Amino acid sequence: MALLEVENIRTYFYTLRGVVKAVDGVSFKLEKGETLGIVGESGCGKSTLAWSLLRLVPPPGRIVGGQIRIDGKDIVAMSESEVRREIRWKRISMIFQGAMNALNPVYTVGDQIIEPLLLHTNMTKHEALERARELIEAVGLAPSILERYPHELSGGQKQRVVIAMALALKPDIVIADEPTTALDVVVQAQILNLMKKLHQEEKMSIILITHDLGVVTELSEKIAVMYAGKIVEFGSAEEIFENPLHPYTKALIRAVPRLKGDIHKLEYIPGTPPDLRSPPPGCRFAPRCPRRFEPCDKEEPPIIEYSKGHYVACWLYSKR
Ligand SMILES: Nc1ncnc2c1ncn2[C@@H]1O[C@H](COP(=O)(O)OP(=O)(O)O)[C@@H](O)[C@H]1O
Ligand SMILES: [Mg+2]
Repeated sequence: MALLEVENIRTYFYTLRGVVKAVDGVSFKLEKGETLGIVGESGCGKSTLAWSLLRLVPPPGRIVGGQIRIDGKDIVAMSESEVRREIRWKRISMIFQGAMNALNPVYTVGDQIIEPLLLHTNMTKHEALERARELIEAVGLAPSILERYPHELSGGQKQRVVIAMALALKPDIVIADEPTTALDVVVQAQILNLMKKLHQEEKMSIILITHDLGVVTELSEKIAVMYAGKIVEFGSAEEIFENPLHPYTKALIRAVPRLKGDIHKLEYIPGTPPDLRSPPPGCRFAPRCPRRFEPCDKEEPPIIEYSKGHYVACWLYSKR
């Protein structure tokens, strides 16, 4: 049994203008201590998937089907109070997209880090401050930061604080939703190195979410490629880069700017992702796919195991 087993999860937003099928039948497994990168263009449902894993989907959204099992226990079926008591922040925590800009301006960093500790553990204020000091050092900051206010910190320092907060209760799984997007390239690299170090030292599993395939290479053992609410390809990072199968994955790889070696022509993917209120009936990528043929517009391709541990949903690789 894997640490995390996501099975056919579906999360929809019930808006006045229709039902947005933001996550529509996603399945994957994550072993203890493993790192998984989830990549795909903006709007493909990555954040919605992350919110689902924490049972924090904002209204008008909700999980409408599927299971999310942690150590075999389905958290979709749990009550909110059970999730709060047993799961959220303790087993699985999250660095929210843009969280570093959402730190509370009127509290010191120290107060913000100890808050979850006082709320979720029996620690005294003194013990919580001790743990906060440990956490702040673990993310490579000086303890004096604890007395500062968010506006006194750089972007990179704020992001480290947010990471420290996600680690506070020693979760087994940390989800990082676009943790480097707002940072400059040098700081991005530092944050990724920090996450790599934490992963190795604390043996926690990391789910790294990004629209930038270039970012996941450093940290992720496994990669899931998402398109329009679905996983279209899944495999080891090595397999995904050396032997990509899905035309969308191939296009994403061609769109990664390379720093070393030849200057490759940066190719962008023509067209736009579908409206998730009325996705195309067959393969959702078909309207943009250079390799589409007769079944693609009509029938959705099943996800198949093409080679050991390498999964793809594309008619090029399966018979009808
Ligand atoms: N609160 C919301 N209400 C309605 N639709 C939403 C909401 N949040 C996200 N969506 C829609 O869900 C889809 C997936 O969004 P999101 O999960 O944020 O994608 P990503 O993180 O990959 O950019 C998009 O079509 C988006 O417009
Ligand atoms: Mg997002």
